[in-house]
Amino acid sequence: MLTTSSHPRLSDLEDIKSDSLLALIALANSDPREDKIDVGVGVYKDGTGATPILRAVKVAEKLLWERQESKSYLGGRGDVEFPKLIGQFLLGPHAGDPRIDGLQTPGGCGALSLAFKLINAANPQARVLVGVPTWPNHEPIVTGVGLELHAYPYYDREARSIRFDAMMKALSSARAGDIALLHGCCHNPTGADLSAAQWAEVTRVVVERNLLPVVDIAYQGLGDGLDEDAAGLRRILDACDEVLVAQSCDKNFGVYRDRVGTLFIKTASAESTARAMAHVLQIAREMWSMPPDHGAAAVRVVLQDPALKADWLAELGEMRARIKRIRSAISAAHPGLAYIGEQKGMFSMLPISRDQVLKLREDHGIYMADSGRFNVLGMADDAVDRFTQAIVAVIG
Ligand code: LMR
Repeated sequence: MLTTSSHPRLSDLEDIKSDSLLALIALANSDPREDKIDVGVGVYKDGTGATPILRAVKVAEKLLWERQESKSYLGGRGDVEFPKLIGQFLLGPHAGDPRIDGLQTPGGCGALSLAFKLINAANPQARVLVGVPTWPNHEPIVTGVGLELHAYPYYDREARSIRFDAMMKALSSARAGDIALLHGCCHNPTGADLSAAQWAEVTRVVVERNLLPVVDIAYQGLGDGLDEDAAGLRRILDACDEVLVAQSCDKNFGVYRDRVGTLFIKTASAESTARAMAHVLQIAREMWSMPPDHGAAAVRVVLQDPALKADWLAELGEMRARIKRIRSAISAAHPGLAYIGEQKGMFSMLPISRDQVLKLREDHGIYMADSGRFNVLGMADDAVDRFTQAIVAVIG
């Protein structure tokens, strides 16, 4: 049909610069080479290269199937028991603080979206300070709600270390009310976590400058242990009146596609937390109305049953041990890779160019993010040597 209208049309939309991590999944899947190695997106693989459903989650799903009598609506908070159970292992001594309330969200991503929309409602002038490189979805989530992102250098790829001075300088020159977006543990994409002393310094400056910390914690239990990995967050909660925490069960319960997460809100009083929560529920109502139930219900069943919980903790320990084993194998292969043994969680970053990343893809079927980020758990046991040799050949 001929149209004379000159209003903008959907077909006029510009090309979008999309997050390459999801594109990488499709690219690796379409590679017919049987010995390809997909170390792109952050999913756990066991020694055989499979991403299994965790034993306890599988049992919990069976119990749900047997016992669940209804799929009627639960309400905007989702499963009300779920955040309480998450809070017990995430917040530690802060669980039960009447100034902290939590709700179920579709993954950590849903929690982050809610957090930044809430911040935008309270203080649209706030700038979000984040160290780069960071998880590629942080920027679109922050700027998508209309907040300004203020990036500072967090990690020096060549030196293979945190740029702590630059981090402190950026946080120290922030305005009161600005947001400090912090990775709780297992930094994505670098694996370079703050030490306890650095957390203490960051906490001090956050308090001094009157910043609002948003802690993104999606890998608890995959670094040094559940309590160890939450130590930085708990220090922040000790010191700050207002904190937002975006939590994810994707990795530590292996429920990736079920979208299971929590947002915790802490303010100075139970009353103001209740008011903030009412805002969050309204925002959630506009976005997804109610979170999906199944994954969170399975996690709840695991956490409520002592035997299932013990088995989850054991399997989480096995995952952590596998991470450590692969990290040591890679780090022992070349002095330039020694740093990988010191880092935490699923990711580390190689100081290689985009061309070298593409060469690894073409010549060896090794798929990693353009940034040089790779998932140390992305390979089966029998692929570790081949992966390491290819990397050593590239870094020289
Ligand atoms: C990753 O960083 O690979 C994961 O967190 C998956 C994602 O959603 O990006």
